[in-house]
Amino acid sequence: MADSPLSLSERAGGEGDGKPLDLVLLGPAGAGKGTQSRRIADKYHVPHVASGDLLRMHRDRKTELGLSAMRYMDRGALVPDDLVISMIVDRMRQPDANHGILLDGFPRTVAQATALDGELEAEGRELKLALYLEVPFDVLVQRAAGRWTCRTCQTTYNYDVNPPRRPGICDVDAGELYQREDDRPEVVSERIRVYLEDTVPVVDYYRERGILREVDGTQDIETVAAEIERQLEAAVW
Ligand code: AP5
Ligand code: MG
Repeated sequence: MADSPLSLSERAGGEGDGKPLDLVLLGPAGAGKGTQSRRIADKYHVPHVASGDLLRMHRDRKTELGLSAMRYMDRGALVPDDLVISMIVDRMRQPDANHGILLDGFPRTVAQATALDGELEAEGRELKLALYLEVPFDVLVQRAAGRWTCRTCQTTYNYDVNPPRRPGICDVDAGELYQREDDRPEVVSERIRVYLEDTVPVVDYYRERGILREVDGTQDIETVAAEIERQLEAAVW
């Protein structure tokens, strides 16, 4: 690994190896984590690892993990820590994560956050930044109701703010767009309740460590992306 880290702009240009860029994107259901993560991952060349997307992939493949997880996901509850932690640790150990990782939707409990610290520490790495997308709860319920997700690559759309070029078809891989079972208003309300109970303590955990940066997620998608980029440039190197 190189001694001197790449600047973010060099990393964005895809040049050489740099210090690992390990990031976490936090925020409640529908805050825009997936939307922004795809942009950050493309720009800074880090793999985007979304725990919810991985769990849905397991569900679609009917693996043992997927079938257990589905029972929790469909009612808006968290999947047990041991299952999620081992799934993410396995993913972090794949070679494409050697130079950094962008985690979306993980950690969601303090136990997950400490497991992440342990895994990074074992590799001589350290979390650089936890970005927190803040959006009021009434907006979240509206966003979830208007969300369409690609069945294959999980890219999300909204017909008002970021519609696909062809209705019902993903721009990225032409996959079918569908509405997630857990985007029904009553399930979204439960996801928000769980978020307040289990994930707000994770926000506090990173705030106390001094690595939390808050971003107003109610702004339009491009403005949020620009604000994230500004925070990244200011905080990481
Ligand atoms: P997961 O898939 O992670 O869902 P979530 O965290 O609830 O978040 P969402 O994916 O719903 O929202 P998002 O923030 O990605 O928003 P998006 O960009 O799509 O988790 C699902 C379930 O899996 C959990 O309930 C749990 O059961 C389980 N699970 C996952 N991780 C776990 C873990 N670590 N531990 C235990 N269990 C776990 O945007 C939403 C919509 O808004 C889109 O339509 C988008 O186009 C639109 N939009 C985005 N940004 C903007 C903007 N700035 N303005 C207007 N519209 C916008
Ligand atoms: Mg998401």
